[in-house]
Amino acid sequence: MLLDGKQGVVFGVANKRSLAWAIARRAAEQGARIALTYQNERLEENARELAATLDRPLVLPCDVNKDDDIAGVFARIKDEFGGLDFVVHAVAFALTEELEGEYVNTSREGFRIAHDVSVYSLTAIAKHAAPLMEGRSGSILTLTYLGGERVIPHYNVMGVAKAALDMSLRYLAADLGPSGIRVNALSAGPVKTLASAGIKGFSKILEHMRNRAPLRRNVEQAEVADAALFLLSDLSRGVTGEVPWALPSLWDVNTTIMVPGTTPASAQFQNALKYDAAQDKAVDPEVVTVPTQVAVGVATFGAAMGASFLLTGRRWRF
Ligand SMILES: NC(=O)c1ccc[n+]([C@@H]2O[C@H](COP(=O)([O-])OP(=O)(O)OC[C@H]3O[C@@H](n4cnc5c(N)ncnc54)[C@H](O)[C@@H]3O)[C@@H](O)[C@H]2O)c1
Repeated sequence: MLLDGKQGVVFGVANKRSLAWAIARRAAEQGARIALTYQNERLEENARELAATLDRPLVLPCDVNKDDDIAGVFARIKDEFGGLDFVVHAVAFALTEELEGEYVNTSREGFRIAHDVSVYSLTAIAKHAAPLMEGRSGSILTLTYLGGERVIPHYNVMGVAKAALDMSLRYLAADLGPSGIRVNALSAGPVKTLASAGIKGFSKILEHMRNRAPLRRNVEQAEVADAALFLLSDLSRGVTGEVPWALPSLWDVNTTIMVPGTTPASAQFQNALKYDAAQDKAVDPEVVTVPTQVAVGVATFGAAMGASFLLTGRRWRF
C-alpha cells in the first residue's frame, strides 16, 4: 500500500462530498492513519460520523482563523501520533456576496477574510507541521483552482486568493525543502461541494467543462483523491512547489487538440471560459482559421513538449 505506516492530518471535512473527505478516505485505504479536523460544532457530527469508518482516527476541532486552534491540533497530533508524514489543506472561504457580483466591488473585509482563511492558513499550518515531519520526507498538499490563473465568472476574490495560495506554496516549498518536506497543490476541476455551491452560476461552469475538457466530462471526488494520493505518497518524492491539474480544460492542453485548418488563436488559450456579461453565461470561445502549416508546426512543437512532460514530469508554461 502506498501510505502504509504513514500518519496524516486532513483539514476541511464538512461532509461526505468534501474533497478533503475523499482524500482522507483514499489515504486511509492505502494504509495511513488519519487525523481529521472540523471547522465548528455545526460540522462536528458529520466529521465524527465519517471518521468512524476509519481505523483509529483522531477527530479535532480547528477554526483556521484561530492560532490557538491550529496550535492545539498539532499538539494533540504530537501526543497521539508522535510525528506526521502528510498534511492535506482543503480549506477555503469567501463571503457569499463576494462570489456574486463583480470583482471590482470586493470589500476590504471580504478580501481580508478570503485571504486569511484560504491562504494564510496554509502558512500557519505548514509552520506547525514542519517540526513533526522532521526526518520523515513529509508532504504538504493544498487544493487550488483554475480561477487563480484565469478569470472565471463570479470566482472573484477567491480567484485572487488562489493565486496567492499558489505562490504561497512555492515559498513554503523553498523554505521547507532543505528539511525534506515537499509542498504542492492540486488544481481540481469543478466538483459539486458545499463550498462550490456558494459560487453563483457554478452549474454553468460544470456544463462548460463537460463540453470542453479533453475527456468531455467533469472530474469526480475519487479522481481528485487518487491524484492527491500520488502527491502524498513517495511516488512524488521528487516533486515540490508544483500545481498539477486534475482534468484541465480543453484550452489548457494546448496543441494536442489542434486540427489543421481550424485552430483556436493562441490568445484564446488565455480564456478557459469566455463570459458574456450581457447574457450572464459562459459562451464558447470563437474558433478562427489559421493556415494548415502553422497549425502543423505548433502541433509538432506541442508533441515535443508533451513527450518532454512525460519524461520529466514538468508542465510547461508559455
Ligand atoms: N469543489 C470544487 O470545485 C473545487 C475545485 C478546486 C479546488 N477546490 C478547493 O478544494 C478545497 C475544499 O473545498 P470543497 O470543494 O471540498 O468544499 P467543502 O465545503 O467540502 O470544503 C471546504 C472546507 O473549508 C472549511 N473551512 C472554511 N472556513 C474555515 C475555517 N475558518 N476554519 C476551518 N475550516 C474552514 C469548511 O468547513 C469546509 O470543510 C477548497 O480549498 C476549494 O477551494 C474545490
